[in-house]
Amino acid sequence: TRAYVSCDMASVALGADDIADALAAAGCEVIRTGARGLFAIEPLVEIETTDGARIAFGPVEPEDVPAILDGTHPNRIGDLATMPFFAKQQRFTFARCGITDPLSMADYTAHDGWKGLAAARALAPQAVVDAVKASGLRGRGGAGFPTGIKWQTVLDATAPEKFIVCNADEGDSGTFADRMLMEGDPYCLLEGMAIAGHAVGASHGYIYVRSEYPFAIRALNAAIERAAPILAPLTVEVRVGAGAYVCGEETALLESIEGKRGQVRAKPPLPAIQGLFGQPTVINNVLSLAAVPFILAEGPERYAEVGFGRSRGTMPVQLAGNVKNGGLFEIGFGITLGELVNAIGGGTESGRPVRAVQVGGPLGAYFPPSMFDTPFDYEAFAAAGGLIGHAGITVFDDSVDMAAMARFAMEFCAIESCGKCTPCRIGSTRGVETIDRIKGAAKREQALEAMPQMRNAKVKHRSVDEEIGVLRDLCETMKFGSLCALGGFTPYPVLSALDHFPEDFGGAPALPQAAE
Ligand code: NAI
Ligand code: SF4
Repeated sequence: TRAYVSCDMASVALGADDIADALAAAGCEVIRTGARGLFAIEPLVEIETTDGARIAFGPVEPEDVPAILDGTHPNRIGDLATMPFFAKQQRFTFARCGITDPLSMADYTAHDGWKGLAAARALAPQAVVDAVKASGLRGRGGAGFPTGIKWQTVLDATAPEKFIVCNADEGDSGTFADRMLMEGDPYCLLEGMAIAGHAVGASHGYIYVRSEYPFAIRALNAAIERAAPILAPLTVEVRVGAGAYVCGEETALLESIEGKRGQVRAKPPLPAIQGLFGQPTVINNVLSLAAVPFILAEGPERYAEVGFGRSRGTMPVQLAGNVKNGGLFEIGFGITLGELVNAIGGGTESGRPVRAVQVGGPLGAYFPPSMFDTPFDYEAFAAAGGLIGHAGITVFDDSVDMAAMARFAMEFCAIESCGKCTPCRIGSTRGVETIDRIKGAAKREQALEAMPQMRNAKVKHRSVDEEIGVLRDLCETMKFGSLCALGGFTPYPVLSALDHFPEDFGGAPALPQAAE
């Protein structure tokens, strides 16, 4: 009997290795795949039938193996493709993830691997750049800058050497799509890098991976070794970060690869003109590069026909936090936040009402359920005072204290700041202190309301509203005075918490913005 079990870090954390061992001990041929992406059914086993179909069981325990093998296990799911969580997805980038053996070249080739690279190599570099432009692909790291225009800038630059750098320093809370792709389908990323190399004339690539991703580092190194002949003339190497969030900022990342302290560089010059070692550099997120093989293989129109407004193609959305169906859900832009959280995510894991979701990592805004009709689209999110970022959605139930979350954002910025500019370096620490003062003022006002005789006109304290005014001023300074997104975006979670959940700061509750 052939059985498929994921070797993804999240699946292993949930017990996949033990299941794989138990299946092997029972005489099965066990194939380790990437993750399918729904953690509620992990550890997951898929048993191959005589006609090549797969019957899924999950979650399972090692002692369940006999019941799995005779098909009587109560957690029998059947064909995963028919399960609503999977049936609704549009898997362009993650088509192979969870299905193939990540390091099997034969599997990759049999599942349409290298088709995009072959198509790209049959075209002139400009035609490849044109195809990426026509697809409408925008940077999946968070900023949403058109990938084709970035590539054009590098193609047009004249220099003795050019580089392809993959940003795999996935640091946002609630995100794991880069990791899942690197562990579950590493050749897809390498194929995207080889296409980029051909498109702009680069012969060397780096993948900058965070040290917290040991499985991805191992998978990439093994994949690079096996695929080297196909990737040539592009050579690729992995560089491992050392735990600084700011090294996900592209210029700090370049500094780090160059062997320097990960500190942000002022832009311009853009990395596309003067990047790694001063040479023109394509620097793209894992998901941007991994989207490219599909675009070249299937044609840019096929990618661009899916989406919403100026956000074309699909987004691998990551549902995390207090959510029932945590996992990866790849879908065309345009689905609403509410559909993602409630219909797909199934609401909270705790069963309590959803109070807030944070979209786009620790620098993303908090959305209350009254804004759940916002479509997943770069422009719509910006208009709502937020950002899609790397498409991580972290769900919170009604036990969350939003003033504590705002404080956390400032504290996070203070810890992770690279220290280069004042609004971020000093402002974040002042932000923590100001939020503490707001909470202190709220408690004082509450106590004085109960005991008005204790009021002393000679002692002047700032009121809650005055302290909130100071915090808003500080956010304004950080937003417009910081050199990079770390200091510049920290105000998003703080201001959204203030705007939508003022009662947690001692103010009056916010009025609902839109119908739920
Ligand atoms: P940005 O808007 O400055 O730049 C976006 C990209 O476009 C950069 O690569 C930049 O070099 C390039 N670019 C801009 N103009 C160009 C031109 N004319 N020609 C060629 N290339 C050009 O944004 P930034 O600071 O790079 O990224 C901020 C985003 O990062 C935020 O939106 C945030 O969501 C995201 N982020 C993602 C994290 C993750 O873990 N994936 C962590 C933290 C932040
Ligand atoms: Fe460094 Fe913060 Fe300034 Fe970014 S905003 S350059 S992280 S100090």
